[in-house]
Amino acid sequence: MKRFYVTTPIYYPNAKPHIGTSYSTIMADVLKRYHKLFGREAYFVTGTDEHGQKIQQAAEERGLSPLAHCDEMAENYKTAWKDLEIDYDHFFRTTAEWHIQSVQTCLQKLWDKGEIYADTYEGWYSVSEEIFYTDKEVVDGKSPSGRDVTRIKEKNYFFKMSKYQQQLIDYINNNPGFIEPDVRKNEVLGFLKQPLGDLCISRPKSRLQWGVELPFDTDYVCYVWFDALLNYATAVGLGRTGMESDFEKWWNSDEAGAHHLLGKDILTTHAVYWPTMLMALGYKLPKKIFAHGWILNKDNAKMSKSQGQLATAKDFTDLVGVEPLRYFLAHDIHFGNDAPISIELVVNRVNNDLANNIGNLLSRSSNLIVKYFDGKCPGSSDTDEPTKKLIALAEKAADIVKEKIETFDPSRALEAIILLLNEANRFLEEKAPWTTAKTDVAQAGKDLYSAIEVLRISAILLSPVLPEKMSELLTRVGCQDRSFTAAQKWGLTKEGTPIEKGSPLFPRIEMPKDV
Ligand code: MSP
Repeated sequence: MKRFYVTTPIYYPNAKPHIGTSYSTIMADVLKRYHKLFGREAYFVTGTDEHGQKIQQAAEERGLSPLAHCDEMAENYKTAWKDLEIDYDHFFRTTAEWHIQSVQTCLQKLWDKGEIYADTYEGWYSVSEEIFYTDKEVVDGKSPSGRDVTRIKEKNYFFKMSKYQQQLIDYINNNPGFIEPDVRKNEVLGFLKQPLGDLCISRPKSRLQWGVELPFDTDYVCYVWFDALLNYATAVGLGRTGMESDFEKWWNSDEAGAHHLLGKDILTTHAVYWPTMLMALGYKLPKKIFAHGWILNKDNAKMSKSQGQLATAKDFTDLVGVEPLRYFLAHDIHFGNDAPISIELVVNRVNNDLANNIGNLLSRSSNLIVKYFDGKCPGSSDTDEPTKKLIALAEKAADIVKEKIETFDPSRALEAIILLLNEANRFLEEKAPWTTAKTDVAQAGKDLYSAIEVLRISAILLSPVLPEKMSELLTRVGCQDRSFTAAQKWGLTKEGTPIEKGSPLFPRIEMPKDV
């Protein structure tokens, strides 16, 4: 793979960004930055899903036009992502004129091919999820996830999704990495054991105006999920004149392909609706659909908007800073699983891994080099057994990180770096250069050189998660070459490189009394 295309769901602008949406976005950012570090070209799309009844209602409640409401909310997202150091390449809004046109082109194509037909729809609709449900799925007047539903009976248009059921099952079975983690793949295959219905893809304008007009019947707008899912492909050029080569480059080429990150609650739309839409349109399917878990509160329940208890990233970053929160999310939530977040968990993680581990190694070694070596890095490491062991671990770290990131396992990638840093701290404890500096300064120099090398390698490998902090660390240890290949090699720091002492990179955080 030469190129890495990654997406987050496009978020409903009926609410401000919260810890759940921040989580998907931070993880996409971390993955994009890692792939860039590995020397790939990378493209990252996030954005807002602006059509549909939910947004129309949210705007009405605020006395605004839907677009004015979305303009404001899209800005909230952009600001939040900037604050979290999200390096997206494109902020997607489904109200962009070119997207609307591309959606209409796709609808027309499916209509012309006979993949869409008109019929009467009778069933249930959940506005908060913007999902249609059958009688069987609705239990005690609620959707399977407990949301309110309303009864609908009206003429609508349907996409022949059922036609692609077997093709989709075969595709999933023949492409093991297509839906991950495995538990989610099995969930989709389980869902596909039942006969798959066709997908209602329209809403009459008498009910809903806020959507993409159907090109073959102007009394209707397109169902919001149909419009929204297409974003992943229109963002890189599907249906856009002049962008054919971009579409080829990011979507179709064997060297690229889309990687969709999403929460497990929106798996069916991504793993069933979307691939069948692409099959009918005649385009390649995404490379990977990765469903992550939920961020839970202290009581291990999903933090959710409807419960009114959603934390925001700011609830944490005000105390610990942005990059430490990124680190916590990437490290403590094993990608794909549910996991809790709380101030206590974040503070402990930051103190253990960042302040004590990496921060401590940096301050101890830089202080000693300033004190005993006039701030100039000694020349080389020792050749004794403990040093050999440390070097072996350090030289392996980059490859482990690469392998874990490529298999969507960032927690284990970070664990490998922390293990190396732990070993380096233990190594210094054993070698005690603060003592040998007074009796055998050459020995102290060799051991401090090893500590600096571990810091250099670890900081390059941690930079996608902690971009500014690691850049500062690398500057303090005089590192110029911050490439992945430099992280694979021991011994690149030159003798005499100026080492700076500086204030603590990650000050210890006191646990606030009121939590
Ligand atoms: N607009 C649709 C997505 C369309 S993509 C073509 C949507 N938007 S949303 O605003 O509701 O965003 C939901 C995303 O946030 C989902 O991926 C969902 O899993 C995630 N999260 C919401 N709460 C969450 C947690 N508590 N934890 C982790 N992620 C959760 O659905």
